[in-house]
Amino acid sequence: MAWINDNYRKLPGNYLFAEIAHRVAAYRERHPSADIISLGIGDVTRPLPMAAIRAMHEAVDEMSRAETFRGYGPEQGYPFLRKAIAEASYEGLGIEPDEIFVSDGSKSDCGNIQEIFGIRNRVAIADPVYPVYLDTNIMAGRAGRPQADGRFDCVTYLPCTEENGFTPQIPTGPYVDLIYLCSPNNPTGAAMTREDLAEWIDFARERQAVILFDAAYEAYIKKDDPSIPHSIYEIEGAREVAIEFRSFSKTAGFTGTRCGYTVLPKTVMGRAKDGSLIPLHSLWNRRHTTKFNGVPYIVQRGAAAIYTEEGRQQVDAAIGYYRENARVILAGLKDAGWTAYGGIHSPYIWLKTPGGIPSWELFGTLLEEAQVVGTPGAGFGPCGEGYLRLTAFGDQTRTAEAIERIKDLAGRGILGA
Ligand code: MLT
Repeated sequence: MAWINDNYRKLPGNYLFAEIAHRVAAYRERHPSADIISLGIGDVTRPLPMAAIRAMHEAVDEMSRAETFRGYGPEQGYPFLRKAIAEASYEGLGIEPDEIFVSDGSKSDCGNIQEIFGIRNRVAIADPVYPVYLDTNIMAGRAGRPQADGRFDCVTYLPCTEENGFTPQIPTGPYVDLIYLCSPNNPTGAAMTREDLAEWIDFARERQAVILFDAAYEAYIKKDDPSIPHSIYEIEGAREVAIEFRSFSKTAGFTGTRCGYTVLPKTVMGRAKDGSLIPLHSLWNRRHTTKFNGVPYIVQRGAAAIYTEEGRQQVDAAIGYYRENARVILAGLKDAGWTAYGGIHSPYIWLKTPGGIPSWELFGTLLEEAQVVGTPGAGFGPCGEGYLRLTAFGDQTRTAEAIERIKDLAGRGILGA
């Protein structure tokens, strides 16, 4: 008899984006000619930067010759990429190339990281939140039992609401050991300031907790706003308590190509049962080398190319393109008389549902009446109810068209202000 991991049975329904894909597919089956515009899953639409394409072509050619062919690479990533990341993104922050672990993306890393921590750790997560943090802790058996309100009894939820500017506040309740923070935030689009992060770092140091900092959307932070840090290591003390996740997906269009990385300074410690302090770096390195064979050489060459002058310019152009979408979405929603947040340091717009209707209801109305797909806030947690997330990752013409359709619905009174 093979026994299952019963924790999987505690997971609420399907993975959020799988559920949305399922509902959209069902609608498409009923309306095969419908012209659906997706502002749902945060998937990019701009092609890979030409600098990355050229580097990948060259790498393919290297693979075709016996003298330059490569088999298994270092599990943690090739030195050329780890060094390029350290120099470009962590200059002056004391991060060494061997503290950077290249992976197939931050979704995997954010999900896998909890494996190196004991099952009894209490996890704190924002509400609403990117579902991977909670779901992977439920799978591991760390979340406890689901309650009537959909929350799990062993998780500390950090409500992110209009009142607190969608910023997670330090909890007053029981101890917490692992704290997931995401800035710029998915789904609310809010970005944490230096002061916000400094408070969390002080808290983590005092409690000997670890912060799991998801910075997948860091590239969307406006460069002329010094109040928002790009890396948690810009804040004093972070090297003792924080692990940072970053991705090439939303920066350089690698959602399909897959590449990201985790920064784990050797100074971040966890406590063993016998009371000794163990560097988490050694555990993550052990996990990585045991369970992962590295990102393909060709992909790593493509990722490294974005740090060239040409690559940087192309990445900036793609981000500018998506920023313009965010501006159009925010302006259109405002014209429709609706309230929306985010979209400034982030590709996500957090729309307050008109008249406070439930988020899945707004999702349904937008799909049925305007053939526009958003992501219902309730799918990100109870505090996401009453909101819908729209992404700026679409094609510009199609995004403008989607917003016109939404405004038209509002104008016809189908969705009131
Ligand atoms: C999202 O839409 O939240 C993201 O695309 C999901 C992800 O990056 O895994």
